[in-house]
Amino acid sequence: MRTVDWDYQNQSLLLIDQRLLPGELRVAAYSDYHEVINAIQEMVVRGAPAIGVTAAFALALAAYRSSASHTTEMLRNLSIAGDELIAARPTAVNLKWAVARVLAKAHEAPGDLDQLRKLVLEEALRMADEDVAINQRMARHAAELIADGDTIIHHCNTGALAAVDWGTALGAIRMAHQQGKRIHVLVDETRPRLQGVRLTAWELQQYGISFDIIPDNAAGYYLSSGQAHKVFFGADRVAANGDVANKIGTYMLALAAQDNQVPVYCVAPTSTIDLSTAMGTLIPIEERPPNEVLNIQVDGKSVAPTGCTARNPAFDITPNRLISAIVTEKGVVYPPYPENLARNIGLIES
Ligand code: MRU
Repeated sequence: MRTVDWDYQNQSLLLIDQRLLPGELRVAAYSDYHEVINAIQEMVVRGAPAIGVTAAFALALAAYRSSASHTTEMLRNLSIAGDELIAARPTAVNLKWAVARVLAKAHEAPGDLDQLRKLVLEEALRMADEDVAINQRMARHAAELIADGDTIIHHCNTGALAAVDWGTALGAIRMAHQQGKRIHVLVDETRPRLQGVRLTAWELQQYGISFDIIPDNAAGYYLSSGQAHKVFFGADRVAANGDVANKIGTYMLALAAQDNQVPVYCVAPTSTIDLSTAMGTLIPIEERPPNEVLNIQVDGKSVAPTGCTARNPAFDITPNRLISAIVTEKGVVYPPYPENLARNIGLIES
């Protein structure tokens, strides 16, 4: 089943509720775009490609529920909804990309309101199908960088749950496994939301890929002792110069990898590459509620003393000099990134 899907019968959006995994696989239905914004913020759905396509469907919901009496009013409603969706999580550029694409399609609609609604939904459905196809193409390119016998450190969750299906960095690992390569994954637990322990470990179990969960701060040990051969992660936004915004902890991981001459690969679709942002320092970093850090419990008890404060940046920036290659659905991009990323985006796929 898909992480993000459309229920034709009830005209509603279906999302796997990722907050409940791995304990429970439950699908939640949404018919109001405001509820979808909340679901993105609360991380019912998460991962850059997944929230992009979710935003596209949220605009379809906004269009079907809108009481606008003419297209100009409907387009204004959609533009407001689009701005609200983009603000839900500021770092992942896929939200902005998806909203821009759907709104551009909406502006092509003739004067008929029903036509406009249909066009918006069709575009969202097309984006969902494309997401799966793009991820599979990207996985094939990235799998070429994986050798038989590799042990790979993977950060956060970048699998089927982070996209409509298949995923980015984890998609590459899954593809290499399907190609018969023997791979072992060291799964960063990914504090504080624990996407690695909860979601990546759950996915790897489904695929039958060998893995061990490691504390985030154990990565340096595995890299320096020669027990990890590659580092793979995704991205929430790649700047024009190849700096990568990704889940908090990615920067420290890439630093430790470079210090030990271990290659670092970022796998991200072209919808995650933002040529309008020149460098990583210009990417907004989402700061999430301190409770996500302070509420961590051991044996049913809070670990932090009462009354503590915490900081909780959700992402960090890994500078381009630490990244060996960035893989998109159009191929493997090596430095220098400013020229090569722009060329890769412009490539026409055969
Ligand atoms: O806060 P999250 O769980 O949405 O963060 C997700 C990540 O950082 C992923 O690595 C990124 O979105 C790429 S996944 C395809």
